[in-house]
Amino acid sequence: MVFLGLGIALCHLPPGLAGPCCNGTILEIRPKHHNQAQVDIYEKQLVPFGLVRFGVAPDHPEVKNVINTFTQTAHSERCAFRGNVAVGRDVTVSELREAYHAVVLSYGAEDHQALGIPGEELPGVCSARAFVGWYNGLPENQALAPDLSCDTAVILGQGNVALDVARILLTPPEHLEKTDITEAALGLLRQSQVKTVWIVGRRGPLQVAFTIKELREMIQLPGTRTILDPADFLGLQDRIKEVPRPRKRLSELLLRTAIEKLGPEEASRQASASRAWGLRFFRSPQQVLPSPDGQQAAGIRLAVTRLEGVGEATRAVPTGETEDLPCGLVLSSVGYKSLPIDPSVPFDPKLGVIPNTEGRVVDVPGLYCSGWVKRGPTGVIATTMTDSFLTSEVLLQDLKAGLLPSGPRPGYTAIQALLSSRGIRPVSFSDWEKLDAEEVSRGQGAGKPREKLVDSQEMLRLLGC
Ligand SMILES: Cc1cc2nc3c(=O)[nH]c(=O)nc-3n(C[C@H](O)[C@H](O)[C@H](O)COP(=O)(O)OP(=O)(O)OC[C@H]3O[C@@H](n4cnc5c(N)ncnc54)[C@H](O)[C@@H]3O)c2cc1C
Ligand SMILES: NC(=O)c1ccc[n+]([C@@H]2O[C@H](COP(=O)([O-])OP(=O)(O)OC[C@H]3O[C@@H](n4cnc5c(N)ncnc54)[C@H](OP(=O)(O)O)[C@@H]3O)[C@@H](O)[C@H]2O)c1
Repeated sequence: MVFLGLGIALCHLPPGLAGPCCNGTILEIRPKHHNQAQVDIYEKQLVPFGLVRFGVAPDHPEVKNVINTFTQTAHSERCAFRGNVAVGRDVTVSELREAYHAVVLSYGAEDHQALGIPGEELPGVCSARAFVGWYNGLPENQALAPDLSCDTAVILGQGNVALDVARILLTPPEHLEKTDITEAALGLLRQSQVKTVWIVGRRGPLQVAFTIKELREMIQLPGTRTILDPADFLGLQDRIKEVPRPRKRLSELLLRTAIEKLGPEEASRQASASRAWGLRFFRSPQQVLPSPDGQQAAGIRLAVTRLEGVGEATRAVPTGETEDLPCGLVLSSVGYKSLPIDPSVPFDPKLGVIPNTEGRVVDVPGLYCSGWVKRGPTGVIATTMTDSFLTSEVLLQDLKAGLLPSGPRPGYTAIQALLSSRGIRPVSFSDWEKLDAEEVSRGQGAGKPREKLVDSQEMLRLLGC
């Protein structure tokens, strides 16, 4: 069956099979639920762990501890990692379905939501997704080398990805030196001229998508002060009392930061800060403004908005006014987006998910999905894992109910022959462990947990391919 980080999973086994669960790159087989299942995890990268490696911020190493759980799963003798195999390109989903009893699609959200505004293609504009991939060593984003020679950056969207990107832009580089951020990214960040980062939301303080821990980190960022406009918080005090508790605590922190007088210590810290970040509310991106020669982003035109509706359904509607915000870097952080993987798999382009009922792909028996491609591109690792467990449960229910094919299936033997005939050389988990050891060794001199390998050709050479 399937799984993880790797996006796809499938299973083969003597006659029945088993339940996996996967998350981002994670997958966990639960032998207690089935004692014969064989799970193969297909992953298009040469390395496992999906967004845990290529998304989670380098200064949040504790979050990456979940890799230990994934590694334990991968060491099971009934689980195999098949890296360097892009499903949909190197092997079709139909071929996988023929070879295994069940297939779980867990390939995440590899694109970003476009803004759909004029000027989006200008140099100086990039997606937060590509920026994150760049500092986290995703091979396909290594050419990005963002231009950080400007004074002001604008991030569009007010989710946790926006805060990650703002934090990486503003953290004193010496605080990142002992993380697994790539050396190339650290080099550019050391030379960065960015002093101010605006994080822009189309709705208000009660609708931000980031969470309190990440907000607190921003407020306490060394050498950086926070800019909030008290006018954005007028009349909010009473409404905060009515919102659910996590949002209440978050809103109270925002409110306090916006309106409370600073104590002497904090006032002195902020006065000496050389960098700043701020939240701009009720502003929706309308156009990226070009420089006079038209060659570069020089600002962003924002439509001023007001809110309509109540609760979670509150919508931002333009008032007709606009505001221009000068900046040299625009990072759009309005969400990730899943893509269709293969014409044989149904896909809802509007919602960006595989249509499914509790993880069963609609109208395709034996095909399942989990993770962001199942629910959309939101949710932390814990929620993604919980949701993956649910997919594995329905798969096991179907197995018990006799809804999956019976009789033996060739599994990887058949796929290996196909891949070999197509010149594809899959890599194994022990190959990853060789790359892992190399990364750890390269990081040692600089006191880093690892120096990530970012060049796929070099990785293949190291593996003797
Ligand atoms: C920038 C960022 C930071 C985050 N930070 C945190 C955090 O600090 N804490 C937290 O709890 N959560 C965090 N999250 C959320 C967390 O990463 C996700 O909930 C989780 O990774 C989603 O899992 P997934 O399996 O759906 O997708 P992914 O983790 O993206 O895994 C999908 C895998 O499928 C592979 N794949 C894609 N296409 C194919 C194909 N055609 N063939 C084979 N393989 C394929 C990909 O290479 C990838 O390895 C963050 C998310 C982002 C975007
Ligand atoms: N530290 C962590 O735990 C961590 C770190 C990173 C990511 N994550 C998780 O990963 C998931 C993805 O994060 P994310 O930040 O990419 O997405 P997100 O949480 O969905 O936030 C997206 C932001 O973009 C805005 N937006 C969407 N479309 C827009 C448009 N057309 N114009 C203007 N603004 C628009 C949204 O505003 P509206 O609300 O108005 O739509 C929202 O503020 C989240 O669940 C997040 O918590 C967690």
